[in-house]
Amino acid sequence: MLKTQIEYDEMLSVLGRRLQPNAIRKLTLLLGSKEVISLAAGAPSFETFPIEELADISARVIRERGRFALQYGPTRGQGALVEAVAAILRARGIKDCTTSQIVMTSGSQQGLDLIARIILDPGDVAMVELPSYIGGIIALHNAQAQMIGVRQDDGGMVISDLREKIDRARSEGRRVKCIYTIPNFQNPSGVTLADERRKELIEVADEHDLLIIEDDAYYDLYFADDPSRLVPLAALRPDRVIYLGTFSKVLAPGLRTAWLRAPDLLAGKVELAKEGADLSSSVLDQAIVIGAISDGLIERRLPELRRFYRVRCAAMLDALERFAPPGSRWTKPIGGFFILMELSAGSDATAMLPDAIESGVAYVPGQPFFVDGSGANTLRLAYSKESEESIADGVERMCRVFKHSNAQARV
Ligand SMILES: Cc1ncc(COP(=O)(O)O)c(C=O)c1O
Repeated sequence: MLKTQIEYDEMLSVLGRRLQPNAIRKLTLLLGSKEVISLAAGAPSFETFPIEELADISARVIRERGRFALQYGPTRGQGALVEAVAAILRARGIKDCTTSQIVMTSGSQQGLDLIARIILDPGDVAMVELPSYIGGIIALHNAQAQMIGVRQDDGGMVISDLREKIDRARSEGRRVKCIYTIPNFQNPSGVTLADERRKELIEVADEHDLLIIEDDAYYDLYFADDPSRLVPLAALRPDRVIYLGTFSKVLAPGLRTAWLRAPDLLAGKVELAKEGADLSSSVLDQAIVIGAISDGLIERRLPELRRFYRVRCAAMLDALERFAPPGSRWTKPIGGFFILMELSAGSDATAMLPDAIESGVAYVPGQPFFVDGSGANTLRLAYSKESEESIADGVERMCRVFKHSNAQARV
């Protein structure tokens, strides 16, 4: 009887052995059954789910279109949905977007996984932001890519640092293949790539002949009145950019319905890779999303969703202003779910987490988001889940723990 990890490890691929538990999932174990204010959960608030409307649409779809909605479907996705997504992308400025460039995916997460698999060989280099989205890091890690982190400031990726690091990697003989970026209201930092840097980023990709993976999961959740400054990189340089978007944040992540847009030839490769992964994304879920789009449900709710998260973000910024320990700073998002807090140098956000949980509040320590192992004094705060009152209460409790720990460090 085979029993030990080592015995099974010998039967696994290199990748199988490399698979690691996600640091954020581990946090859930730490939380146990304790009731805490969660500034950790990076998901949309369930209060935003249009439950009754989706119940009606689901029943209608199954009754009226069950013969199709419950059947296998095309790998690229349901025709009506692919058309709708192409129209959404044209409205975002990707002018010539056609259906042949779109592949529907089971969440953007699947899109990231498929893209990583078709463009990266083991050892190839992907440039990523410091910090970056944990799911993107996992997808790149699983493709056995090496990741090089690029510094960010309040304007997003620092382009001089990107240039320098690509030059250095190339001079060491490493094969740099792509740049992975989340330009709008980044997860986990909340920062947005500055206008002029969008063009510069494309220039760097042009100079080094790199692909750009543009993960725009939060695009619709901007707080200002209009999104005109959020020009997708894919609008500037469609032949070099693979653009990912999702219905998770504006409808419901449980529907696992997202898309990617790539130049035709790459979209064809993604389709082939997807066939091996799941044949197609859930046809039923896609049919429900089509229903939500044609009923105008998504469009109608967007202003309210933006207000919902804007108010929560303001509550968190206000609480940080009032309670944060001296020497700390934090980002000021213009959309999305997240704020990155940076504590004074030498602080350890992971070490303070058990005390914070004991005090009734949870956050995500920032270090796992930094592929170079830095960021020990940072943490990700999500304002998406809790009410304004709980956010203020949670931030106060958390900051009390940080201040107490600072005071202890001084004695
Ligand atoms: C930046 C980013 N990309 C992709 C995803 C995955 O979204 P989906 O639900 O579409 O898989 C998330 C989810 O949190 C995210 O924050």
